[in-house]
Amino acid sequence: MIVAIDGPAGSGKSAVGRRVAAALGLPFIDSGLLYRAVGARALESGIDLDDADALTELAASIRVEVDGETVRIDGQDYTGKVHQPELSVAASRVARVPGVRRAVVDQLRAMASGDVVMAGRDIGTVVFPEAEHKFYLTASLEERARRRVAQLAARGERPDAEALEAEIEERDRRDSQRAVAPMRPAGDAVVLDTEGLDLEAVVRRVLEQVRRRGGPPDPAEPTARPPATGGILAPRRPRDLPVHDPGRPVPELYGLMRFLVRLLARVYLAGGLLHVSGLEHVPRSGPLVVCANHTSTVDPPLVPAFLPRPDSWSMAKAELLARPGFGAWVLRHYHAFPVIRHTPDRRALRRAAEILRAGGVLVLYPEGTRVGSGGLREAEPGAGFIARTTGVPVLPVTLTGTRECFPKGSWLPRRVRVEIRYGPPLRIRERRPDGRRVENQEAADAIMLAIAEQLPPDARGAYADLVSLRERLRGVWEPVSRPPAAAGDRG
Ligand code: C5P
Repeated sequence: MIVAIDGPAGSGKSAVGRRVAAALGLPFIDSGLLYRAVGARALESGIDLDDADALTELAASIRVEVDGETVRIDGQDYTGKVHQPELSVAASRVARVPGVRRAVVDQLRAMASGDVVMAGRDIGTVVFPEAEHKFYLTASLEERARRRVAQLAARGERPDAEALEAEIEERDRRDSQRAVAPMRPAGDAVVLDTEGLDLEAVVRRVLEQVRRRGGPPDPAEPTARPPATGGILAPRRPRDLPVHDPGRPVPELYGLMRFLVRLLARVYLAGGLLHVSGLEHVPRSGPLVVCANHTSTVDPPLVPAFLPRPDSWSMAKAELLARPGFGAWVLRHYHAFPVIRHTPDRRALRRAAEILRAGGVLVLYPEGTRVGSGGLREAEPGAGFIARTTGVPVLPVTLTGTRECFPKGSWLPRRVRVEIRYGPPLRIRERRPDGRRVENQEAADAIMLAIAEQLPPDARGAYADLVSLRERLRGVWEPVSRPPAAAGDRG
């Protein structure tokens, strides 16, 4: 049995992998150690980390042995060296070189001999695409950096927290954007958001999934305490970050809350007033940006409630989440995360990218605010930026009647016809077919055009002139033909 555990730096994959392997009685291999070994040898031999040929030759010529945390290169002990923080950057630089990856992947496959728990960045996608169990661990950059600081502090070091966060961010960028085997979840991986979960909890969930998917019937529960470096995955949940664990089949509170919103809407608008359509357009797994028009306070609860994706998060104006209290508690558990509106809020953009990288759904409102009257308002560039730079499918969603149902300032909804339409998805291109770069505003306008096309003419506002918009935005977007098949066990 092969268990692949991938994820970015500080997501806890090695600590989790080691404990899962112990519980299942399997060997554990931390694949990052091999890239670290190549990096260590390259630095020692004065090889330029951009010299692909020299690095390829080096990787093919050395023999790396990994035994737990012990690393030997050509029989010589390098354990202390490869674990040094400087080696993280060197490893990630040599890992970009296709020849290095080929050599390491060959070694990893030879080392595994059938049954193994292996941690890395591309185990589920490249090294063992046929692995029976695949996991992808995530957590926000801030939390991962905190874990690393705790881990190094436990070893008696005093790292510069800010520099460490910057280094991890840069490494994430390099690892996820490289041309060969970029870091990403396999399509059939269980994505586990470890934000705020302690090591025990993550290990338990991984083992639960393995068992549910036909692993050993009764694997010994892990009893050992976390290793000394187990400061990582410290139990901590920052207040302003969403809480959710997509590894669970039914995310408890969020699932319940979404159910209640659906129930309320159906009961209140009983008698044929509520129309929900287009659910067949929603991909049941994989990253997705959902963009909706916004005319009423009830839109943000409704859009994710009817969306058949429990792994969705909504951007919400930071003001709503800033004041502690019941309202903010509800919003956080309804998977809202803050964005400072009308600004390029880097933290919110980073969080959005992390959600998508982890294969989740990002719900946002491209107009940047609720628009009380006059139809659609011109979009802000943010949604365009996210859709253009990530290249993930965008699902246009339109709500009609919600403004009349719940006008600003009213306390009780009115019983009027409400319609929610999902899809079909489109994709924003980085460049038009003629090579011109797509601007963020054009990308946002293309999304709004798709929204306008689903709305009645009197609700299209700034996007009423469909003909000239289609002409101006030709080549900016393309349709996404078919939603990807549902992943087996994403819950
Ligand atoms: O996991 P660790 O931090 O030790 O990995 C160091 C570097 O090795 C990563 O930043 C990444 O660039 C590279 N790596 C990889 N593929 C793997 C494991 C590690 O590219 N499977």
